[in-house]
Amino acid sequence: MTAAAIIRQRTGPAPFDCAMVLGSGLGILAEAVEDPTVIAYAELPGFPVAGVSGHAGRLVIGRLEGRRVALMQGRAHVYEQGDARVMKPAIDCLAELGAKALLLTNAAGSLKAEMAPGAVMAISDHIALFGPNPLIGTPGDGRFVPMNEAYDPGLRSALVRGADKRGIPLHHGVYAWVTGPSFETPAEIRMLQRLGADAVGMSTVPEVILARHAGLSVVALSMITNYGAGMVPQAPSHGETKAVATEGAGAVEAVIRGFLAEMPA
Ligand code: HPA
Repeated sequence: MTAAAIIRQRTGPAPFDCAMVLGSGLGILAEAVEDPTVIAYAELPGFPVAGVSGHAGRLVIGRLEGRRVALMQGRAHVYEQGDARVMKPAIDCLAELGAKALLLTNAAGSLKAEMAPGAVMAISDHIALFGPNPLIGTPGDGRFVPMNEAYDPGLRSALVRGADKRGIPLHHGVYAWVTGPSFETPAEIRMLQRLGADAVGMSTVPEVILARHAGLSVVALSMITNYGAGMVPQAPSHGETKAVATEGAGAVEAVIRGFLAEMPA
C-alpha cells in the first residue's frame, strides 16, 4: 500500500486544508491538534526516518482552528545523508492527499541586526544556490518549475492577517538555504547579507521546490533563534537553536492558528 492509501484508510478520504512541516523545537504544535490520528513515519513507505534531536518522526492528522490538517512532526535534512530528494515521497504524498496549502516552518539565523532572536519571519523568497536541487534526476518537463511567487501571495496575506489578529509582530524576508551541518563562517554570513538574504537555515528550501513541482501552494515561517555567525560574540549552536525555538514555539503557534483561521476556504 502507498503512504497516501494508508493515511486515507486511517483518517478518511477528505482532503486537507493545510499540511505542515514542523521544524526544530516547533513540534509542540502537534500536541494542540484535536481528534488526532498519529502515524509513525516508519509505517509510511517513503517517509523519512528523522535522525536529528529536536525532531520526532510522526504524522499527526486532525483538526486545528476548524481546519483539517496534517502535521509532519519532524523532517529529514539534506545534511543527514546528502540526499536532496529525501523529502520527495512525503511531499508528493501530501499533494496526492489533496492538501490545499503546505505550511513549512524552520529555525533560522538572523542576518539583520533589527531582527533579533525570538522574532518570527514570513519567508518572502529564497536563495538556494549552495546545495543540490532536489529535482535533479526527476524525469519530465515538469522539473523545470518556475520559482516566481514560490511563496504564495494569497497565503502570505492570510499569514499577515493571522499574525496581526493574534498580536504577533511578523517580519518578512529572504531565506538563504545552506546545506550545513556546520554553521556558517563570519565571512559567509557577510556574503549572504550582501547577496540580499535576511535569514539563513539548513532546511525548507528543498521542500518548497518539491512542493511547487507537486503543485502545492506554499507558505513558510522562520523562527529566528540566533544571529548569524560573527554578528555577535557568541557562536551559534544546535543547543541554542533548539532552546530558543522551543521558547518561541508559542508565538509560531499563534501565527499558525491565525493563518488557519484566515486562510481561504
Ligand atoms: N545558520 C544556519 N542554520 C541555522 C542557524 C544559523 O545560524 N540557526 C538556526 N538554523
